[in-house]
Amino acid sequence: MPKTPYYLTTPIYYVNDAPHIGHAYTSLACDVLARFKRLDGFDVKFLTGTDEHGQKVEKSAQAKGIDAQAFTDEVSQKFRDLADHMNFSHDDFIRTTEERHKLSCTDLWKRIVDRGDIYLDSYGGWYAIRDEAFYGEGELIDGPDGKKVAPSGAEVEWVEEPSYFFKLSEWGDRLLEFYEKNPDFIAPKSRLNEVVSFVKGGLHDLSVSRTTFNWGIPVPDDDEHIMYVWLDALTNYITALGFPETETGEFATYWPADLHMVGKDILRFHTVYWPAFLMAAGIEPPKRVFAHGWWTNEGEKISKSLGNVIDPIDLVETYGLDQVRYFLLREVPFGNDGDFSRHAMVNRMNGELANDLGNLAQRVLSMVAKNCAAAVPVHGEFTDDDKAMLDQASVLVNGLRKSMDEQAFHEGLETVWKAIRAANGYVDAQAPWTLKKEDPPRMATVLYVLSETIRQIAIVLQPFMPDSMANMLDQLAVSPEHRDFSFLGQGHQLTPGTILPAPQGVFPRFVEADADD
Ligand code: MSP
Repeated sequence: MPKTPYYLTTPIYYVNDAPHIGHAYTSLACDVLARFKRLDGFDVKFLTGTDEHGQKVEKSAQAKGIDAQAFTDEVSQKFRDLADHMNFSHDDFIRTTEERHKLSCTDLWKRIVDRGDIYLDSYGGWYAIRDEAFYGEGELIDGPDGKKVAPSGAEVEWVEEPSYFFKLSEWGDRLLEFYEKNPDFIAPKSRLNEVVSFVKGGLHDLSVSRTTFNWGIPVPDDDEHIMYVWLDALTNYITALGFPETETGEFATYWPADLHMVGKDILRFHTVYWPAFLMAAGIEPPKRVFAHGWWTNEGEKISKSLGNVIDPIDLVETYGLDQVRYFLLREVPFGNDGDFSRHAMVNRMNGELANDLGNLAQRVLSMVAKNCAAAVPVHGEFTDDDKAMLDQASVLVNGLRKSMDEQAFHEGLETVWKAIRAANGYVDAQAPWTLKKEDPPRMATVLYVLSETIRQIAIVLQPFMPDSMANMLDQLAVSPEHRDFSFLGQGHQLTPGTILPAPQGVFPRFVEADADD
């Protein structure tokens, strides 16, 4: 049977500045989901990349005194380096300055023109370069120094120039109908109202070209204009599938996308503008957009001016890669805002990774090494307690599947931790160290049940902590070809007598002295 396709995307990141924790977070969530789906037998395409046009990037290049293309080459590379550091498994990395993207944007634009949804006029209104967004007078709020600012706090400037417009005002009803027919399109559910009330409030036509700078993709047949950077950026999701070729190949296989993962600040662009542009071009909108929350640092908003930007690479160097991957997805219900603190990081790392999971594996594997001839133990008949433990482990993936399809990563991890805690309870109740003297065959059975439970747990945790779980599975002599979810069920349990390598700790404790340096 052919595999079911699953296409997911990160936002493409502005290259005006180096990557920070927010960027790492969005991509991490996608990476975990992509890995999960691959292990679960899907044909996954996972896309990330960089958003390189627009006034914000052009200004940053000018401030550095370098040519915009050279500047974007340099910063885009930093995002690739981050992806390598974080062990992200994307299948493609798109840059909007690539030729394939120009072709795709040009084609999409022409399709919208052909259907009559773009017209030439002139724009007079407010623009925030930081958000690359237009704002109506009524949307502006009072800034700290009495000046009007965008609702995001970004400075606005008055812009007056000839512009092409997209007839967004005519799409309100069709968008509302689309949300109604596709109740899973906007997630989490709490975000739906926000979007619906924005649309119900009345949509204005959207300016989709600029003439006062030229770092962008020229409008077809009118190169006085460049395309609005959000129209350009959103189109990346179809460029990467070979658009404008739609009849064969990747577009036919993977579109509409299963999931666009975004931060809450860019929800409107993905759930109002993007589906409207697509429908206007005769293309189906994506299936789902999930908006996650924002991180603060020790209770403070993260900002360059406060000097508290968190560099994800520093975090990884301090705490370890899989520890950071685990923490970011465990600490906060996905969708809510979260706070990064060293205290919380160290607590989770020591409590849940070193103690709960690390100790479980180490206790069991070292007893096996010492008392079972360093091989998978030979078990006897299973008791009800043994069966209950094995059953709990073997159904883990079902609970996880549901959580992952809802992007409830914290909930998925909690499901696994319930099984880990149950396994620790089982070790204490069965006390294999006492059985060692009193009933060695029973000890072997208990250690078998535990080893098999650890195998199941390590397999389902691979998407979250790929390196550490690979290490744990190596220690159980599970071959790399036997690690996907089809090996969780009956008939794939550990084979008694299989020789095991020497055990080693997987999750070191973080020593507090290091934390106070
Ligand atoms: N270039 C646009 C996206 C275009 S997609 C067609 C953009 N880029 S961005 O680099 O500014 O932001 C990318 C992502 O990082 C957004 O999803 C944003 O929400 C996320 N984050 C930026 N700061 C963040 C935090 N402090 N916390 C969590 N995520 C945050 O927007």
